[in-house]
Amino acid sequence: MAKIIDGKAIAEEIKHELKQEIDAMKERGIEGSLAVIQVGTDPASSVYVSNKKKACEALGIRSESCELPEDVTEEALLRQIEIYNGNPRIDGILVQLPLPPHINEKRVLDAIDPTKDVDGFHPLNVGALLIGEKGMVSCTPAGVIQLLKRSGIEIAGKHCVVIGRSNIVGKPMAVLMLRENATVTIAHSKTKNLESLCRTADILIVAVGKPKMIKASYIKEGAVVIDVGIHRMENKKLCGDVDFEGVEPLASAITPVPGGVGPMTIAMLMHNVVLAIKEHYGL
Ligand code: GUN
Repeated sequence: MAKIIDGKAIAEEIKHELKQEIDAMKERGIEGSLAVIQVGTDPASSVYVSNKKKACEALGIRSESCELPEDVTEEALLRQIEIYNGNPRIDGILVQLPLPPHINEKRVLDAIDPTKDVDGFHPLNVGALLIGEKGMVSCTPAGVIQLLKRSGIEIAGKHCVVIGRSNIVGKPMAVLMLRENATVTIAHSKTKNLESLCRTADILIVAVGKPKMIKASYIKEGAVVIDVGIHRMENKKLCGDVDFEGVEPLASAITPVPGGVGPMTIAMLMHNVVLAIKEHYGL
């Protein structure tokens, strides 16, 4: 029987720790704030944005949202980012993705002040991560590291296979595992013999975006399995990239979907907001 890694509980623990820090800052007269920009009215994005604002409220961080129409020009969006960049009352800025196709996502993300870039998507923060310097780290991969560490899973010396090479999850995930002294392999859609490669993993981190793709045949007995995927099935239930029922009996530890990696993303966003506040007030 695998240990089920309780992401909800670990996320709560992290938010509780952050609340202590935020309360201490309040006693010194400092109130942090996050600005969230949403373009259009995609229902999934609206849910994410609302959850991020609720998390701020629960921790005592001021949040403000800027809702721009689907057909907003790139220039108008960039102007809004400049306003937030220049506003000393705003500590963190987040532009909810995806953006409509007429907007150049890279130009937008590059425009955010790196010290306010709580998503950790700015090239300066990505570069800092690669060379081990201080900076904001992308929330989902940072959350996976916390899940592993707080579950007492040793990383150093282990073979970690990361499936997926996106800028938001796969690449930063691999660098973070390397920083923790794992031996890291990045697999992707062109990888040959994926199944047998995965069977060499002590820690398998899956971010492929395909429902239940990773079956028991991909798993070495005793492996730790982290599932970053989230999908809604036809029966309305949520599932991950991993076939949980098939894989769980082989794994030593596994994250469920929902309740595994998902809740960690917001907890780590709050962590980044606290980092940004500290940076701005020189704490
Ligand atoms: N859309 C889906 N995931 C994310 C995320 O982590 N950050 C932002 N800004 N948008 C997203």
